[in-house]
Amino acid sequence: MKKKIKKAVFPVAGMGTRFLPATKANPKEMLPIVDKPLIQYAAEEAIAAGCDELIFVTSSSKRAIEDHFDKNYEMENELEKRGKKALLKIVREVVPKGVSCVYVRQPEALGLGHAVLCAKPVVGDEPFAVILADDLIDGEDKNCLQQMVSVFRYHSTSVLGVEEVPHTDTDKYGIVKADLFKERLHRVNGIVEKPNPKDAPSNLAVVGRYILTPRIFDLLETTDRGAGGEIQLTDAIARLLEEEQVLAYQFKGTRYDCGSKLGYLMATVEYALKHKELSEEFSAYLNSRFGESSAARKKA
Ligand code: UTP
Repeated sequence: MKKKIKKAVFPVAGMGTRFLPATKANPKEMLPIVDKPLIQYAAEEAIAAGCDELIFVTSSSKRAIEDHFDKNYEMENELEKRGKKALLKIVREVVPKGVSCVYVRQPEALGLGHAVLCAKPVVGDEPFAVILADDLIDGEDKNCLQQMVSVFRYHSTSVLGVEEVPHTDTDKYGIVKADLFKERLHRVNGIVEKPNPKDAPSNLAVVGRYILTPRIFDLLETTDRGAGGEIQLTDAIARLLEEEQVLAYQFKGTRYDCGSKLGYLMATVEYALKHKELSEEFSAYLNSRFGESSAARKKA
């Protein structure tokens, strides 16, 4: 099997109901964290991890994503005329040279598994990455997908990005049953979608990062609707486990669930505190608003 992960799939066809009315006409993946849309953070993560083909699984209300990754001649001309070189660079570098974008439609929101299956004709017979842009991950040293690609290079099997969640929250995630065999690395024995805390096999939750072998497509084709009446990626992974080794990797970094309002606000605050133009003024504002102690805690 090919050892390199060159293709990244971004399922962006969900309805984003938790963010209504903001997501009525705009995709939730276009919500900005400070000055960059969530989907651009995800694309940058994939590119830094070595991917050069970005495959977006979209739906009818997601055209803004295509526009974002397309050239904007008018804006570029205008910025050039005004001599705004730095801004021109920002606009031009949204898609770096050598990276291509492909768009596939998911005709109905039948679930994450179905969205991934829609990418089959473009991915073909090679291992690939899946990134859910609403899980924004601030990686330590390397980004989350880079860390997972390193695991894949060594083991050549599917790798799921996981983190420990409070036991009471297992019913919000796909949860793995797994044996730790190396630092941060587990062999997966089972996986279940949104288990009730009392039935959950662990508190290791799959978050929005996957490296999958192409066998997953055949399994998705014959996976029935599961939890919530949707075709669940988790159910197909459960079947993949019966045929191939699947690993779960506890990435180094902090995840923000930007599909929820609270997670989105937390990410905004943290990224603003690190933003080169904003950090000083914004932390001064937080100090004036909440006192020095909160900023001191932040620095610690
Ligand atoms: P979510 O469970 O977050 O659903 O999907 P959602 O529709 O985006 O948001 P809420 O819960 O209604 O607020 C997880 C990921 O799977 C994609 C979503 O775009 C998101 O990235 N997805 C989900 C699809 O692409 N298609 C689907 O049919 C369902």
